Amino acid sequence: MAGALSPATTTLRLIKPFSAIALRRLSLFHKPKTPLSISLPPFSSTAASVPLSRRASCSVISSAITSGEATKTETLEKKMGEFRKKIKIVDIKGGPDEGLNLLGETVVVRGWVRTLRVQRSVTFIEVNDGSCLSNMQCVMSSDAEGYDQVESGLISTGASAWMQGTVVSSQGSKQKIELKVEKLITIGKSDPSFPIQKKRVSREFLRTKAHLRPRTNTFGAVARVRNALAYATHRFFQENGFVWISSPIVTAADCEGAGEQFCVTTLVPTSGEAGDSPVNAIPKTEDGLIDWSQDFFGKPAFLTVSGQLNAEAYATALTDVYTFGPTFRAENSNTSRHLAEFWMIEPELSFADLDDDMACAAAYLQYVVEYVLENCKEDMDFFNTWIEKGIIKRLSGVAEKNFVQLTYTDAVELLLKAKKNFEFPVQWGCDLQSEHERYITEEEFGGCPVIIRDYPKEIKAFYMRQNDDGKTVAAMDMLVPRVGELIGGSQREERLDYLEERLDELKLNKESFWWYLDLRRYGSVPHAGFGLGFERLVQFATGIENIRDAVPFPRTPGSAEF
Ligand code: 4AD
Ligand code: MG
Repeated sequence: MAGALSPATTTLRLIKPFSAIALRRLSLFHKPKTPLSISLPPFSSTAASVPLSRRASCSVISSAITSGEATKTETLEKKMGEFRKKIKIVDIKGGPDEGLNLLGETVVVRGWVRTLRVQRSVTFIEVNDGSCLSNMQCVMSSDAEGYDQVESGLISTGASAWMQGTVVSSQGSKQKIELKVEKLITIGKSDPSFPIQKKRVSREFLRTKAHLRPRTNTFGAVARVRNALAYATHRFFQENGFVWISSPIVTAADCEGAGEQFCVTTLVPTSGEAGDSPVNAIPKTEDGLIDWSQDFFGKPAFLTVSGQLNAEAYATALTDVYTFGPTFRAENSNTSRHLAEFWMIEPELSFADLDDDMACAAAYLQYVVEYVLENCKEDMDFFNTWIEKGIIKRLSGVAEKNFVQLTYTDAVELLLKAKKNFEFPVQWGCDLQSEHERYITEEEFGGCPVIIRDYPKEIKAFYMRQNDDGKTVAAMDMLVPRVGELIGGSQREERLDYLEERLDELKLNKESFWWYLDLRRYGSVPHAGFGLGFERLVQFATGIENIRDAVPFPRTPGSAEF
């Protein structure tokens, strides 16, 4: 299909300094300087000398162990840090031999009981501590200390437990090792009403139990991959010389000009007592309007929809910066891709144009995808089996292939030619809907991310740089399968006169943008940036269908529980 549109349709070649090749050469996997330690107060001091098997973040220890540089105990003691007192299940089972290197060792496991099966001769207790997908299978016979807690029913699904035992090879096919329990302490018992039992429950149901759903396989895995994506994000930008900026959450500006902001005010009383205040307690001007001068900030203030404008101020001083923080939109969109509170990553590059911006976006996405494929193998296998079959292959393709790039005009042409009945009709000048975006990336380009550029200026924000045709702006959206728009960005209008004219055209209050205009008055430079919705990235990387399941506690219209 790409051929039908050529030469306008091109694949995006990554250019310096964001070459994918150069990135792969970067040392992707740092070895941590500080190793893990495992002292075990308050329950045990005798079981402390446990070697740790390797996991992504403790390879220093394991290499020392396997190379025989020192005894296991010595190595651990030398490297013991006060900040890390516990051994976790990933430390036991997360290495290449899945714990076999620890056979015969005494270890302590702490976690939450996933299942408990009492059989005639032994009891199986599956415990998970969230450090990895795997549970520790703990096998307890009636002569073990604390067995009375099994008999009395004190220990049950959902309870938290401390168990000390010996690592033995497992009879079961699911794991190589298990824990032969010598001592059990129930730390916190679980009421029989614990809602997450072994049977499968729907995601909708789990949304009503958002405080307990991290104890399921799916939400534990999503949380770990989300964490890895955040870590990889900082690494990517830090390794490429960007400075992290915290943009304000409370702002008087409407960056996107879409009027979708939550107001931050103390005019409406907030404390319990004042909650009974009558509506007319809100101060008014003589004209009957709200008197904002009496508000906390002396004028209307809102939760930010984007940190971009502030990032621009720092980019025009520090050259390359990025923000990574919460943003808020009061759009009444009850879709699987919209949240009222979501996190956004917004890099801003000075001395850069739209091509640099697109190259940065592509390199960033490839980097973080490669990072999770490499570092979250167990969780990605889980998603591949249970959430989206083939996701690993899909993501591997993203990490390796060049992205498709086409203009908005070509995209419209392509949609007009498509043999598909879209709910929203297409014509030049229309905003592309999710169904159009997904069609382009999923069907036309076989799941490859697509960057569409040069959108009509009427459907884009005031700050985007006008192209020479006078009709379009140097904007770009990156579309990915399943999600649609993952990234929105642009080259910024750095010319003062153009920007002022655009603000006038859109009847935006120029005075309120005085400081933003100053950036064009004093040492203006071509610059560009983009915003990536972090939860949409989590959806993309895990295959989770609904954005409400990609964030710990979703905020959506009508829902701010938890
Ligand atoms: O395209 P948007 O609106 O762009 C901006 O806000 C620019 N100021 C960014 C910039 O250039 N620095 O939003 C950027 C991204 C979208 O592509 C989408 O991934 C995500 O933010 N996003 C949302 N994610 C979840 N829920 C919502 N309601 C979202 N709205 C936007
Ligand atoms: Mg957008």
